[in-house]
Amino acid sequence: MKDFDTLTRELEEKIRQEEEQIYSKKAREEAYNPKNVGELDNPDGAARITGPCGDTMQIHLRVDDEKITDSRFITDGCGASVACGSVITQLIKGKAIEEALKITPEDVLDVLDGLPDDNVHCAVLAVETLRAAINDYRTRQNGERMKSVSKSF
Ligand code: FES
Repeated sequence: MKDFDTLTRELEEKIRQEEEQIYSKKAREEAYNPKNVGELDNPDGAARITGPCGDTMQIHLRVDDEKITDSRFITDGCGASVACGSVITQLIKGKAIEEALKITPEDVLDVLDGLPDDNVHCAVLAVETLRAAINDYRTRQNGERMKSVSKSF
């Protein structure tokens, strides 16, 4: 009879082999070693969205002069959503807000060399969360503008 450690090792190896068949090398790399995980102190824009699958993603933005200088994400979702959060936060760094708004789920999927059909919505969730965070940034900016306008009266 095999000992517990051997059984665990065999199971891990089986899972690894299955993942290799389903996910691209790039998707596995981003899922296992995601970049930009976490939160920013006092973000300039933030959003948290729960997708139809029930998983949630949060994105924080730091914006200087209409340019995204930093970004963090958190998700309680699947490995694919972790990979998508990692990719999208890397894609937007250094981009003007207008450019970041043009990023599509297909752009995220391209970087990951694709995802299985069942995981395409993970890329959609990442893009929708980004757009909501940019919306939040715009709303805050408008609020600041309104404050300074009302102060000048
Ligand atoms: Fe729901 Fe990936 S975000 S399964």
